[in-house]
Amino acid sequence: MIDAAASKLINEQVGHEFAAFLQYVAHAAWFEGEALPELARYFSAQAEEERGHALKMVKFLNDTNQEIAIPSIPAPVGSFASVEEAVRLAHTQEVRVTEQIKAIYDAAAAANDRLTQNFLQWFLEEQVEEVASMDALLRVARRAGDDVFRVEDYIAREGHPEAGAPAK
Ligand SMILES: [Fe+2]
Ligand SMILES: [Fe+2]
Repeated sequence: MIDAAASKLINEQVGHEFAAFLQYVAHAAWFEGEALPELARYFSAQAEEERGHALKMVKFLNDTNQEIAIPSIPAPVGSFASVEEAVRLAHTQEVRVTEQIKAIYDAAAAANDRLTQNFLQWFLEEQVEEVASMDALLRVARRAGDDVFRVEDYIAREGHPEAGAPAK
């Protein structure tokens, strides 16, 4: 029903999404330990979104009668030198995931696999949002420097567009 190469890449992407989930759980735990509750909440919400992304892909593979082979997930980074470093890692992760989704889209397009291309549209839009919000947070963290409570204030004030929303 869908292209075999695309199917394999989506299985790998399930692993990347679960890795992102674990990474944001680790981010949230580290922020919690640093007594930065707004950042902790923000990253807990991000973690739930990543879990939702993985499960959405598993459902698509099931719905299209594909074999599901979830890869092993690498351990997340658990501690950071600074808030800025933590946010930079999150930003790098979002940029990398965007490239991964684009590569799956390209494989599907090369195979004229319209179902997978259509499925991935949502993820491409989501990545534009996630890179933009991490980019904004990174710029705020850079400006704040050691005054990390300014980052807390920013999140408290701006919130997050999808904060509190159920994982998709
Ligand atoms: Fe994701
Ligand atoms: Fe993400």
